Amino acid sequence: MPAERPLAPFGRRSCNVASFADDGGYRLFTLIDDEGPVPAPGQFYMLTEGPDWLATSGRPFLPRAISVARTSGDPGNLRLEFLIDVIGPGTARLNELKGGDRCMIAGPFGRPFSLPNAILPGSVGAVLVGGGIGIAPMAVLRRHLVSRGVPTRTLLGFRDREHSGAVDTLFGCEETRLAFEDGSSGHRGYVTDLLSVILEGDDPSGAVVYACGPPAMLEAVRKMCSHHSVPVELALESPMACGFGACFGCAVPRAEGGYLRLCVDGPVVRGDEISTAMAGEV
Ligand SMILES: Cc1cc2nc3c(=O)[nH]c(=O)nc-3n(C[C@H](O)[C@H](O)[C@H](O)COP(=O)(O)OP(=O)(O)OC[C@H]3O[C@@H](n4cnc5c(N)ncnc54)[C@H](O)[C@@H]3O)c2cc1C
Ligand code: FES
Repeated sequence: MPAERPLAPFGRRSCNVASFADDGGYRLFTLIDDEGPVPAPGQFYMLTEGPDWLATSGRPFLPRAISVARTSGDPGNLRLEFLIDVIGPGTARLNELKGGDRCMIAGPFGRPFSLPNAILPGSVGAVLVGGGIGIAPMAVLRRHLVSRGVPTRTLLGFRDREHSGAVDTLFGCEETRLAFEDGSSGHRGYVTDLLSVILEGDDPSGAVVYACGPPAMLEAVRKMCSHHSVPVELALESPMACGFGACFGCAVPRAEGGYLRLCVDGPVVRGDEISTAMAGEV
């Protein structure tokens, strides 16, 4: 059964920026959305920094897709938190926002994560795997699963300590297992090493894996889960121009032929729906 998707209000809307703070190598900011529904875990918004986004010459022209990392409050006064990795002109402009500024959003968009029982009837729990900026949708999914009593293990990977700052903010004192490529803390290596221990060591039958992170990490997770016959949902990325299915800019090949538009058929897809998680890489 497909996960229920809250419907986005028509068009773009202006939201107040409530706060914006450095959090390790990323920036976390909060918007107050007084029109939209509560998003489901894995959904995303198309963001533009404000009316000036289009008024100045040069890039960026198009909104940027950003996953929601945490929500609180109720429709009418909903707080949406986003984690930003500044990699280009769009995220740099979003990074200039300050408390009290306005930000244009459209959404929530996309197919969210499914509950484990909807993927695997009788499933006994979930394993969440997040890498880098991909920890954002894992944070909101983790809260969703825990609030429904689903036993959940969380594995998070980072290139270095600096880029793990948001872990404390988004995961608090919840139990997580961490991997650092530079060995500064936790396991030295990739987060997929931690997943491998779980898939090899336990009886993985009955578990469902969820992952978001860089394409190479997602591809490794997809292959490992396929090898162990463990169902997996992956939150993929691709360049997105519209976010609602009109432009086909986000198309990635479907395993059985044809294409998926990641903004409407994803960004969350089952591992067996695609033949590689690297297809959306640019
Ligand atoms: C569904 C979805 C959710 C996302 N959630 C977040 C989020 O929570 N936080 C966040 O910071 N970013 C997120 N992104 C990524 C963000 O939308 C893109 O990286 C965006 O292009 C950044 O815009 P920019 O103008 O700063 O950089 P751009 O100029 O667009 O890109 C800068 C460089 O990064 C490369 N690049 C851009 N997108 C990708 C990609 N998908 N894969 C590999 N390389 C790429 C480009 O080739 C370029 O070299 C998400 C993307 C999608 C599709
Ligand atoms: S971003 Fe336009 S169709 Fe997906």
